[in-house]
Amino acid sequence: MSNTATLEVNGEKYEFPIVTGTENEVAIDIKKLRGVTGGVTTIDPGYKNTGSCTSSITFLDGEKGILRYGGYSIEELAEKADFLEVAFLLIFGELPTKEELDKFYSDIKKNSIVDEDVKKILDAFPKAAHPMGVLSSLTSALTAFNPDAVDVNSEEDMYNSVVRILGKFPVLVAWAMRKKSGLPLDYGDKNLGYVENILKMMFKVPNEEYTQNKVLVEALDKLLILHADHEQNCSTSTVRIVGSSHAGLFASISAGISALWGPLHGGANQAVLEMLEAIKEDGGDTKKYMAKAKDKSDPFRLMGFGHRVYKNFDPRAKIIKVAADEVLGDLGVEDPVLEIAKGLEKEALEDQYFVDRKLYPNVDFYSGIIYRAMGIPTEMFTVMFALGRLPGWIAQWREMRLNKEPIGRPRQLYTGPTERAFKPIEDR
Ligand code: CMC
Repeated sequence: MSNTATLEVNGEKYEFPIVTGTENEVAIDIKKLRGVTGGVTTIDPGYKNTGSCTSSITFLDGEKGILRYGGYSIEELAEKADFLEVAFLLIFGELPTKEELDKFYSDIKKNSIVDEDVKKILDAFPKAAHPMGVLSSLTSALTAFNPDAVDVNSEEDMYNSVVRILGKFPVLVAWAMRKKSGLPLDYGDKNLGYVENILKMMFKVPNEEYTQNKVLVEALDKLLILHADHEQNCSTSTVRIVGSSHAGLFASISAGISALWGPLHGGANQAVLEMLEAIKEDGGDTKKYMAKAKDKSDPFRLMGFGHRVYKNFDPRAKIIKVAADEVLGDLGVEDPVLEIAKGLEKEALEDQYFVDRKLYPNVDFYSGIIYRAMGIPTEMFTVMFALGRLPGWIAQWREMRLNKEPIGRPRQLYTGPTERAFKPIEDR
């Protein structure tokens, strides 16, 4: 194959290098396009064809349904690794040795105390506030409590900022949930594993001994691994672009949380559960909702279906579907909503509209059912997604800074009025 691509604009030919990734993905490098053509740009709303960076963190093949972190398949990691090992792998590029992992966790624990004054900020939020808004605000507020600028050229500074956010973020997650439930804001237990401790921080009540449920710990660990990174998705691209202005890690991640909140992205897990509940309340007629999803005059979409990149199946959804069955079975929960979900999935997979558009269940379709069985309130589902995505955001922010990427600043094609004279207000 030729290693250049030729573009002809207004009769003039230009050559651009073709670059190939380690998985043989091919991209045309148009860095010099504007310079050589005298200002010609490209238009690609939603960046459906645009690679914003090179990255060595996560590989995804949407046609084949492949997802790998640092070369390891998501299936194997979900089965054999724990969340903290996966976080280390994403951020530093290799699975940790036992010593490295112990040190990593010990450093995270040392950095898990959140300034007591953050509680005052949390206190000012109404109880009805959505926890994603609360989480985004508190994460941003952490900048004020940890104002030291990170020298990205210092390995030590970078490492410290990583363990700091991995330590404090779960506390904010737990506090956001406890605030909503009216429970005192507290810490967990340093003797527990990362994920065990998160559950304890979320669920411990003041006058009772907290007992761990192994099934829940394993299920949450798996869910967090499955959500840990997904290359250049909306929230991750947000984190990278905010960080590209040299904004700090907390500020960049706070922006990522806001991006994740939307129902087309992480907010879909809450939207799925609400949709399934609505179908149940409406008598369980899945066909009616299938018809609504296909009706172009109806804004309704089948939440938890479709993906920008996966056009075959979402490998995470496959694992989560099995996990949902296991968790509900282990806990002895019979959830009619799970049956509705399965019915809907079966119908959609056989329906021409969904087949033609390659719409398959995505990661959010079954995760809410597991979260619900764990006793996590619906509004917290997207917060749990954020907790899982945190290592990915950190890894991508770090990579972007270490690669010295330029500030993110897309171009546009202006379609507004051409130059005109100002009209005084009385003449308009
Ligand atoms: N229900 C009904 N029709 C759909 C759906 C759906 N869930 N998703 C896509 N379509 C149709 C869409 O109307 C369009 O049809 P047509 O070609 O006739 O105009 C076609 O499929 C292509 O859709 P698109 O919106 O152009 O595709 P996209 O890549 O821009 O959007 C998506 C991807 C995930 C935003 C979209 O599929 C969607 O809105 N899904 C529902 C929300 C959801 O589950 N989001 C979670 C995504 S996975 C986790 C994450 O990323 O956070």
